[in-house]
Amino acid sequence: MPCHANSRRRTGDALPLQPQRGLTTRAGAGTRTPARGLPECAPPGMGRLPDVSLPLPTADNRAVVTGASSGIGTALAEELASRGYSLILVARREDLLNQLAQRLTDRYGITAEVRAVDLSDREARQPLAKELATREIAILANNAGVATFGPLAKLDLGFERDIMELNAVAVHDLTLAVLPGMLERRAGGILITGSAAGNMPIPNNTTYAASKAFTNTFSESLRGELKGTGIHVTLLAPGPVRTDNPDQDEVGNKIPEFIWVTAAHTAKITIDALARNKMRVVPGLISKGMSLAGQFGPRSITSVVAGAAYKKLGES
Ligand SMILES: NC(=O)c1ccc[n+]([C@@H]2O[C@H](COP(=O)([O-])OP(=O)(O)OC[C@H]3O[C@@H](n4cnc5c(N)ncnc54)[C@H](OP(=O)(O)O)[C@@H]3O)[C@@H](O)[C@H]2O)c1
Repeated sequence: MPCHANSRRRTGDALPLQPQRGLTTRAGAGTRTPARGLPECAPPGMGRLPDVSLPLPTADNRAVVTGASSGIGTALAEELASRGYSLILVARREDLLNQLAQRLTDRYGITAEVRAVDLSDREARQPLAKELATREIAILANNAGVATFGPLAKLDLGFERDIMELNAVAVHDLTLAVLPGMLERRAGGILITGSAAGNMPIPNNTTYAASKAFTNTFSESLRGELKGTGIHVTLLAPGPVRTDNPDQDEVGNKIPEFIWVTAAHTAKITIDALARNKMRVVPGLISKGMSLAGQFGPRSITSVVAGAAYKKLGES
């Protein structure tokens, strides 16, 4: 029997199971709950027991995190490792990925593989897509993404094209790569990092907002199609999330401090949500407000308000 929780029930969504928090243990926690119910296939050395509604971590399966070399991606990788998942870490900066792989291996006893790939380059990402299609991928976290600010015509147009490839086409590509295997196994988790920016027109952030409109809609549409297949699809659509990216320093002083939420908090609630097959995660109260305004406000108005705010970000 395949080592995933959905093998215990007929369909993935018919009876969504809550993460078994009562069974969790945390590395270094003072009191450890006995690991009753720990499946035989779970690898040793994991910090926490896995959420039962996602495929359980095994020695062979992997959670893939793109954009793992910094920010939310690093936090997602750590969160998944802490739940016992072995990883495939993807980004361009191989040195950072190797350091992260070493740290997570030492800390959580998982296996972490590194794939240094420029995901905005179609040819460069094909070998990765082919590899993922043949591997047992338990979770795909499509997280890598970048933004630019300012009027489109004044930006580097080649880079704007790269943003579309990275933020939208690569997400589509890698999802298509893992989907047949997940359907065959009737289990899997697909996380897509979109953005609150994908809910509205944003002048001075045009390519980014449009690319995130794709990811937001792609994720929520796919989730609807996959109901009952055992595959969970969750959209992370944050507003501002504080990361260690130095680029944020440029815009950071233009965004009030209370708006930010941390990458670690975002990663934790996101993987919890993926385990419950939640449609969308919007971390933080302010982000929720922004998200509602974007989804339900008249677009002619949000375009003007958001465009003015992002104009300031483009002036840094
Ligand atoms: N932080 C926020 O406030 C916020 C808000 C809403 C949405 N988001 C979304 O959250 C995701 C992560 O953002 P973040 O804030 O954590 O940003 P970040 O710290 O800048 O991380 C971006 C990640 O994407 C990777 N990446 C960039 N270009 C790449 C390429 N061509 N090929 C492969 N990997 C590439 C980067 O790694 P390398 O440079 O090593 O390649 C890095 O690991 C993005 O999709 C972003 O749009 C963030």
